[in-house]
Amino acid sequence: MPAAVDPDNAIVTSLLTVLPSGAHGVDSTDRLVAWLAQHSEEYVVVLGPNLALDDAVRLTENLRTSRPTVSVVLVRHDLTTDVLTQAMKAGIRDVVPHGDLASVGDAVSRAHQLYVALRGPSGAVHLGKVVTVFSPKGGVGKTTMAVNLALALADRGARQVCLVDLDLAFGDVAITMQLFPSHSIEHAIGSEDSLDTALLDGLLTRHQDSLMVLAAPSHPDVRDRITPALISRVLRTLRESFDYVVVDTAPSFDEQTLTALDETDECVIVATLDVPTLKNVKVALETLEMLNIARGHRHLLLNRADDAVGIGADKVEAILGMAVAAQVATSLEIAAATNAGTPIVVGTPGHAASGAIRVLATQLAGEPAAPQPVDQVDGEQEKTGRRFRIRR
Ligand SMILES: Nc1ncnc2c1ncn2[C@@H]1O[C@H](COP(=O)(O)OP(=O)(O)OP(=O)(O)O)[C@@H](O)[C@H]1O
Ligand SMILES: [Mg+2]
Repeated sequence: MPAAVDPDNAIVTSLLTVLPSGAHGVDSTDRLVAWLAQHSEEYVVVLGPNLALDDAVRLTENLRTSRPTVSVVLVRHDLTTDVLTQAMKAGIRDVVPHGDLASVGDAVSRAHQLYVALRGPSGAVHLGKVVTVFSPKGGVGKTTMAVNLALALADRGARQVCLVDLDLAFGDVAITMQLFPSHSIEHAIGSEDSLDTALLDGLLTRHQDSLMVLAAPSHPDVRDRITPALISRVLRTLRESFDYVVVDTAPSFDEQTLTALDETDECVIVATLDVPTLKNVKVALETLEMLNIARGHRHLLLNRADDAVGIGADKVEAILGMAVAAQVATSLEIAAATNAGTPIVVGTPGHAASGAIRVLATQLAGEPAAPQPVDQVDGEQEKTGRRFRIRR
């Protein structure tokens, strides 16, 4: 995982927001060298703007021979000719102006591509992203959104995606997708230390749109036998072979959900426009913050965002202190698509909700969000203004 270094903690924090989840921040080159000694798989270090240029150059020169697969990205207040010349001579791969966080993210992605190319497919460990859909409230649309997001990410087979139903007592992913699994996570009980890809493969059910599903147990009482250690093992094993592991959760902070959140790279929090839900979501966000879960990688999805209840998206953003990443309006077609077993992103790709979910999926995938064409649905779009919007 990438490491960022700068003596100013605020700068390290801002750099971490554009680095992959799990990235590490330190305050000196000394600590960075200590980190590198422990992490032989490291592929990039980001040197912050307050680090002395001489230190940055010396470190890079050392890394060039001792760790040639580690790229160096240098952030500078001023990109003078002298800085660029010294950086080039030392072998710094990218120099990025301070404040241009997007370019830092791009440079880190390029460093990863280089690392994969240098080490070869067998050298690079494939680690997919865990995307968890969570809400402390029941019935807000978690399962609907998890299923549609997973299908949008899968993009009909363009990416390898596994949807995991961690609503262990009352999971309904399988029924929502009209699947009849012969196996579920229940069949992994007891294999906390031995579960591997081959065993897990046998427990997955394939959906026609190139999506694999790990179903919840068929009886609620099995839940208590599914240990946090097993959940960690399942998610870690899945991320080794899938590009994305999308997790649907129960509406509570039970130990299984907390374990999943701990393994999460991108957390989608679903809220609706009612005061009890918003209150609970606020408490949940504070808990995620306290536990340092998915910091900088939380995405607020407002479902039923058109409900005329006197609270708009702007008010939600003010209450929760976070931007709304996507909005999905109430639509009978969403519920009907679910009931028909053909989720809306597949059944009606031109629907506004499908567009909103696809854009969110693109955002989660770390790709620039492209505007999607949407069908007009019964003139609703004019009535409710923009049906969705994206903010980063
Ligand atoms: N935007 C929407 N418009 C219309 N119906 C919706 C919308 N979102 C969800 N629904 C419907 O609301 C119901 C509850 O949704 P869903 O099961 O996804 O919620 P949940 O948060 O997973 O619930 P639980 O906490 O019980 O697991 C479903 O019947 C679903 O079809
Ligand atoms: Mg659900």
